[in-house]
Amino acid sequence: MPMRQRLHALFPIRYAALTLSLCGAALALLTLLAWGGSWPAGLVFVVCALLAGLGIHDLRQSQHAVLRNYPVTGHLRFLLEYIRPEIRQYFIESDSEATPFSRAQRSLVYQRSKGEPDNRPFGTQLDVGQQGYEWVNHSIAPTKLPTHDFRIWIGGQPGQPAQSAQPCTQPYHASVFNISAMSFGALSANAILALNKGARMGGFAHDTGEGSISAHHRVHGGDLIWEIGSGYFGCRNDDGTFSEERFVANATDPQVKLIELKMSQGAKPGHGGILPGPKVTLEIAQARGVAVGKDCISPSRHSAFSTPVEMMHFIARLRQLSGGKPTGFKLCIGHPWEWFAIVKAMLQTGITPDFIVVDGAEGGTGAAPLEFTDHVGVPLQEGLQLVHNTLVGVNLRSRISIGAAGKVITAFDMVRLMALGADWCNAGRGFMMALGCIQAQTCHTGLCPTGVTTQDPARQQALVVPDKAERVRNFHRSTLHALKELVQAAGLCHPREVTAHHIVRRLTDTEVRLLSRLTMQVKPGALLQPLQDTQHNVFRLYWPMASAHSFQASSPDVASTSPPIQAADRFATTPGPVDLLPGQS
Ligand SMILES: Cc1cc2nc3c(=O)[nH]c(=O)nc-3n(C[C@H](O)[C@H](O)[C@H](O)COP(=O)(O)O)c2cc1C
Repeated sequence: MPMRQRLHALFPIRYAALTLSLCGAALALLTLLAWGGSWPAGLVFVVCALLAGLGIHDLRQSQHAVLRNYPVTGHLRFLLEYIRPEIRQYFIESDSEATPFSRAQRSLVYQRSKGEPDNRPFGTQLDVGQQGYEWVNHSIAPTKLPTHDFRIWIGGQPGQPAQSAQPCTQPYHASVFNISAMSFGALSANAILALNKGARMGGFAHDTGEGSISAHHRVHGGDLIWEIGSGYFGCRNDDGTFSEERFVANATDPQVKLIELKMSQGAKPGHGGILPGPKVTLEIAQARGVAVGKDCISPSRHSAFSTPVEMMHFIARLRQLSGGKPTGFKLCIGHPWEWFAIVKAMLQTGITPDFIVVDGAEGGTGAAPLEFTDHVGVPLQEGLQLVHNTLVGVNLRSRISIGAAGKVITAFDMVRLMALGADWCNAGRGFMMALGCIQAQTCHTGLCPTGVTTQDPARQQALVVPDKAERVRNFHRSTLHALKELVQAAGLCHPREVTAHHIVRRLTDTEVRLLSRLTMQVKPGALLQPLQDTQHNVFRLYWPMASAHSFQASSPDVASTSPPIQAADRFATTPGPVDLLPGQS
C-alpha cells in the first residue's frame, strides 16, 4: 500500500484543519495558563477555538455532506463558489464572451453613459472571417445629416390621422430609441427616478412595465408608455379584472403618451409572474392597486378578452378611453397561428393597433424559471421578421409601427433590427447598465450591489439620481449619434431607409449573403391573394389554420397530416444565390 494511503488509513488528512485548530487552541490555552496573558497567545487561542468550534459544528450538522467530510476546509468551496462570478468576470472572461452581455458591450455602455470618448484604437477585435459576422455596406457618397434625434410618428401624423376603427387622435412623435418595460418593483425607486429624469432630459419615452405608474414615475415628468399586463395593475378591480374607471384616471394623464397591452415578454412568455407578499411594499401596492404584503399575481393570460377579435375590440376600447392615444401591444411570438389569428382579427374588425413591440426570447427579466429564459419563445430576429412580413402581406404595415427589444446595445444592433423591419428599438438592460448595473445577476435576491434592482432603501442610496439620470441621457444621445454616423456612412437620410439589402452576413469562409437573401421578404398584399407555392412555409401551413375568432388552430389535423417542416424553414431563409459584393466576380 502506498505511503499516502497508509497515512490516510491511520489519520484522514481531511480532518487536518480541525485537528490543527484543536491542537492550536489547546497549546495557546496552556501558554496562557503557564505564562499569563500575552496578546499573541490570546489571539491564537481565539482564532483556533473559533475554527475548532466551526469544525465541530460542521461534523454535527446534517445539511452539507461536504462539510461533514471536510470540516473547516469545506467552507473554502462555498467561499470560492460565492465569488466565482466576480472572479470570472474580472479575471477570466474574454472581452467578447457574452454572459449575457460581453465586457466589450458593457464597457461601451459605461463609456457612452459617462460621456467619455468611445472610439477604439488599432482596429476591430472581431474575427471578420467568422461565420455569422455581419457588416453594413457603406456608400462612396455618404450623407451629412443635421441631427441624430431621429423620430417617427406612432398612431398617424398630425393632419393625417391613423386609419382604424376608433382611430388614434393623439399621435406621438417618438424617438427611435426608448427605455423598455421594466416595472417599479423589479427596479428600485431611485432607478425609476433616474430613468424617467433621463428620458425627460433626452426627449424619449420610458415604458412603465406592467407594475404600472408609481409616484416615482411622475416626479420628473418624462414621457411614459403605460404597460398593461394581465394583472391590470393600476386599472384593476379588487378581484383582478379590468376597471374602466381606474384606467381612465391614469390613461388620460398627459404624461402618458402610449398605451401598451402586454401579451407576453420574451424572457418568460406564457408564464405570468408573482411578486411575493413580503416584497409588496406600500409604494408598490399603491402603484399597482393591490393589497400591501399579499402575493401580487400576474396571471399567464388576460381575462378582459379571450379571442383575437375580442382583443382588437379591447384595444379599440383602451384607445377610446384614453382619449385617442396610440394603443398597441407587446408580444414575443409563439405559435405562428396565434399571431396570424390576431392579424385576421385586424382585417375582420378593421381595428388595428397603432404599434406592436416585438420582444425576443433573448430579452431580460427580473426573475424567470431557467427553462423559460432558455427555451421558450421565438428569438427577436425570427419574431420580428414574421410580424413585419405578415403586416406587409396584408397591406397593414403602413398603419402599424413596429418596435423591437432584445439585447439592443449598439447602433449596429439598431440598424440590423431596422433592416429586418423595426421602426424603433427599446433597450432594457442597456439602460440598466447606464444606471450602473454591473451584471451581477442578483436582480431577484434584493441584493443588487448597485441599487438598480433592490427595494432595500439603504442599497438604493448607492444610486444617485441626478448623476445617473445624466448617464441615461448620455447613453441615449451617444447611441443615436453613432446611429447617425452609420446611416450617413450608408448614404441614407433616416434609419427607416435601412433595409435588409444594406446588411451582409458571412456564411462560410468563402460565402457571404445579403440579409435580404437570407430572410423572408413577403410582397405587399400577398397574403390577401390565394397563397402561392413559392410563399414561405410558415404562411402556407399556418395562415389557413388561423381564425380571427380563436387563438386555437382551427384545424389541428392539418398540422398532424402535413409534411413536417424543416426547422430551418419555419421562419428563416428562402435559399437564393450568393450575393456578390461590389468588386467581386
Ligand atoms: C429587470 C427587468 C424587468 C422587466 N420587467 C418587464 C415588465 O414589467 N414588462 C415587460 O413587458 N417586460 C419587462 N422586461 C423585459 C424588457 O422590457 C425587454 O423586453 C427585454 O428585457 C428585452 O430588452 P433588453 O434585452 O434590452 O433587456 C423586464 C426586463 C428586465 C431586465
